[in-house]
Amino acid sequence: MKQDNRQNIENNLSHGLNVQSLISPLDSEPPLFAPKIRLGILASGNGSNLEYIFKSIQNKQLNAEIAILIVNNPNCLAIKKALKYKIPYVIINHRDCNSRLEHDILVMEKLEELSVELVVMAGWMRIVGEEIINRFKNRLINIHPSLLPSFKGIDAIQQAIDKRVTITGCTVHYVQKEVDSGSIIIQAAVPIKEQDSKETLKNRIQNMEHIILPLAIAKVAKCIRTSFKDNM
Ligand code: GAR
Repeated sequence: MKQDNRQNIENNLSHGLNVQSLISPLDSEPPLFAPKIRLGILASGNGSNLEYIFKSIQNKQLNAEIAILIVNNPNCLAIKKALKYKIPYVIINHRDCNSRLEHDILVMEKLEELSVELVVMAGWMRIVGEEIINRFKNRLINIHPSLLPSFKGIDAIQQAIDKRVTITGCTVHYVQKEVDSGSIIIQAAVPIKEQDSKETLKNRIQNMEHIILPLAIAKVAKCIRTSFKDNM
């Protein structure tokens, strides 16, 4: 029986089970829409997701333009990526604000000033308040390094390691008030190997993030260009 199972798995592997099999849902055709969507990207970290969004646009896989990158941390590496690719950016440092609301309002005003249609939290390490969530209802998405609803909140990769799960992954979801809880748009599974360190696991999760985030943007953009009705 054991032997049969192994044989089945091997047959499957030789019949097209590959990286794409770990992504769900995955349409056979890329989601197409026009005209191009204006993106606002929010980032606090290294900006690798920003970079892959930019590359997807450059490669014409994503019909979008980055209207603005907003960072809350003046030292984050995402700024270097913005400079490298000539992406317009602004620093809105939360430490210069008296409250979370004040920061949210500055972020929201900038997004509105630039007629942003879809907001992408690509490594944005801040909780956003209801003002932004309501203003960008169905147009605010986040990427999180776990298979939600498992391992919400900070250090999701370490949480997965600590729980000794054997598969984790990443999720793109709509943002709602409860952290990491909005409707799921797309997920990718990443097996955890025995010899994994946090760093090697993070790298494999991020490889998948770089695939699913542009796909999720396209899916949501298509909804925006058609209707919101079927989107919740
Ligand atoms: C990504 O792995 C993203 O999933 C995570 O931050 C990283 C940013 O990487 N986001 C969260 O943990 C949000 N809770 P990047 O700056 O290289 O795109």
